[in-house]
Amino acid sequence: MVQTATEQTTMEKLVSLCKRRGFVFQSSEIYGGINGFWDYGPYGVTLRRAVEQLWWSEIVEDRDNVVGLDSSVICHPEVWRASGHIEKFFDLMVDCTDCKHRHRLDQMEDPEVCPDCGSRNLTAPREFNLMMKTYVGPIFDEEHAAYLRAETCQPIFVDFDLVRIASRQKLPFGIAQVGKAFRNEVTPRYFTFRSREFVQMEMEFFCRDNDAMEWFEYWREQRWRYYTDLLKIPSDKLRIHEHEQLAHYAKAAVDIEFQFPFGWGEMEGVHHRGTYDLSRHEEYSGKDMKYFDQEANERFHPTVIETSCGLDRMCLAILANGYYEDLAETKKEGKEQDVRVVLRLAPAIAPVQVAVLPLSKKLTENAEPLYHKLRKRFRAEYDDGGSIGKRYRRQDEIGTPLCVTVDFETLEDNAVTVRDRDEMTQERVGLDALDSYLADRIFS
Ligand code: GAP
Repeated sequence: MVQTATEQTTMEKLVSLCKRRGFVFQSSEIYGGINGFWDYGPYGVTLRRAVEQLWWSEIVEDRDNVVGLDSSVICHPEVWRASGHIEKFFDLMVDCTDCKHRHRLDQMEDPEVCPDCGSRNLTAPREFNLMMKTYVGPIFDEEHAAYLRAETCQPIFVDFDLVRIASRQKLPFGIAQVGKAFRNEVTPRYFTFRSREFVQMEMEFFCRDNDAMEWFEYWREQRWRYYTDLLKIPSDKLRIHEHEQLAHYAKAAVDIEFQFPFGWGEMEGVHHRGTYDLSRHEEYSGKDMKYFDQEANERFHPTVIETSCGLDRMCLAILANGYYEDLAETKKEGKEQDVRVVLRLAPAIAPVQVAVLPLSKKLTENAEPLYHKLRKRFRAEYDDGGSIGKRYRRQDEIGTPLCVTVDFETLEDNAVTVRDRDEMTQERVGLDALDSYLADRIFS
């Protein structure tokens, strides 16, 4: 009997697995932690890099009309005045004077009652700017104030013309960027879902206004397919949320949501941003941000379709989607039921794609060279400590799709046993066919 992931996956179990196996830790834990900041351990960083790379190849490397950018985190403060962040990037917060908890007004079911203790003794709503502030240079005054970027897309708009000229792109084309963003969230919560420091993966697609809605539909479909086909998230755990209230300059906006253990949550937004950003940067910088269309002999601000997702949220969704516990396969007669925890990660993004496990340390001489060969092509790990059962369990918990066991028979038949994480089936594969067998299972 295999239970479904959503029945069993709680945030507590996920957080505990992430800590135990080195995916994600609370930042500065020995000092009591710091709310809204997280450290990625050895398997977490590998998973995150693999997911980022999958996005980058899907958005940039596999297309001729999208190019990359890696901008600085701190930009000229005028960037954030032009974008509207300094003036308008506020959440309304209220404090409970009894339990001292702070809440975002827009997230309270009853804005008159504290959701934690039920008290009605709440402060009046106050505006709270989410920009993280710092100072550049030795003088700490307003004149030298600067901000950590609140979204990665603004530098894309600022550099639009430089990138266009350097890359010789013509409309329609996109610019993509992956990098850290910082928001002083009032209520960071649900593990890495809402953090104060996180990674965004954004792509701004510049096009003619007449074609913009077609491109919007195109990108919305592409992004949906990324989750279902590449990340292998079942479509019943995903949904599209159409925005009813749109910014004055926007014509359409949808969110792709995932069913997290705590409920539905946004993973990505696909937005029609009109010509707002380029016009605003033109107004604030005084630099002409229009595009010259040689064929039509026209100058105009391109319309922008944006795809914007959070890498940390995406990884959290991947972990939640992959978390399973099964009982029957490990149940032994007369013994208490033993729960096997398994992360069913898609092989393309699993931190370890293949583990090499010699049945005994006496087989090191045969198993180690095999491991060194396989690690050239796959993310591989070697483990010769403890019983084979325990080693399989450990690999199951970190999501390793295939384990290769070298046993004494290997010395006779030049073959190894390949164990499948999900089915727990074992297959004997000849050493000469192993590389292509694994590649087939991992890359197809
Ligand atoms: N440029 C548009 C923009 O930034 P957003 O909806 O504010 O739009 C886009 O953010 C994505 O960034 C979200 O869908 C989410 O995945 C991620 N994100 C936003 N705030 C986050 C936070 N505090 N912690 C983690 N991820 C966050």
